[in-house]
Amino acid sequence: MNSINHVAIIMDGNGRWGLKNYNSRNKGHKAGLKTVESIIKVSIKYKIKFLTLYAFSTENWKRPKSEINYLFKLLENFLELKIKKFHKNNIKLKILGEKMFSKKLNNLLINSEKLTKKNSKLQINLALNYGSRKEIVNATKKLNSRKLEINEKNISKNLYTSNIPDPDILIRTGKTNRLSNFLLWQISYTEIFFSNKLWPDFNEKDFIKIIKNFQKIKRNFGEI
Ligand code: IPE
Ligand code: IPE
Ligand code: MG
Repeated sequence: MNSINHVAIIMDGNGRWGLKNYNSRNKGHKAGLKTVESIIKVSIKYKIKFLTLYAFSTENWKRPKSEINYLFKLLENFLELKIKKFHKNNIKLKILGEKMFSKKLNNLLINSEKLTKKNSKLQINLALNYGSRKEIVNATKKLNSRKLEINEKNISKNLYTSNIPDPDILIRTGKTNRLSNFLLWQISYTEIFFSNKLWPDFNEKDFIKIIKNFQKIKRNFGEI
């Protein structure tokens, strides 16, 4: 049976869910937070060590300002409300991506990382203003400026995900079968699951079903 160290999720479908149920994309983003909480619970139950959540891509800046502002306000409120509880539950928070938000949100993110940095039960990586191509370009630039050899190990070590093992499972909800610039380097041998459910409808049972299916897969890594 395969063990699960790291699950990465493209949480897609909030906007469509909100439009369908409340005629408001933002209502979908809000509802999506409930799914985040239940997925964290299952991750702890299954002793998953790393949970990476794609919350905002470098391309999502193309959305209307009002939606972007709502998303960041939602994140701000969520963190202010929950970070102490995360800390108490031995959860570590790490941001993947460049913190280029309001001063208030930047500080909240930095302080949340600081507060939880020694925690060890579950590490939640929040991909925020994250773009995989940018991440790879930045890593190679860093190597270049330090005159270090460009090889796989050095690139991996200079990504936002340095010290984080590659994902075992990648899930994308929202009935869309693409990667949208997420972890392109890290998912070379990740098992990928696409769910037709919109993120606010995705539940613990759906997640556990994927976990059980994953555990039975024969992973070859190029061998036979
Ligand atoms: C994913 O849901 C969340 C973010 C990108 C912030 P979407 O907002 O992309 O929802 P759909 O795909 O439009 O339904
Ligand atoms: C991917 O979803 C990004 C996040 C879930 C944060 P998008 O909705 O932005 O992806 P595309 O634009 O449909 O590919
Ligand atoms: Mg989408």
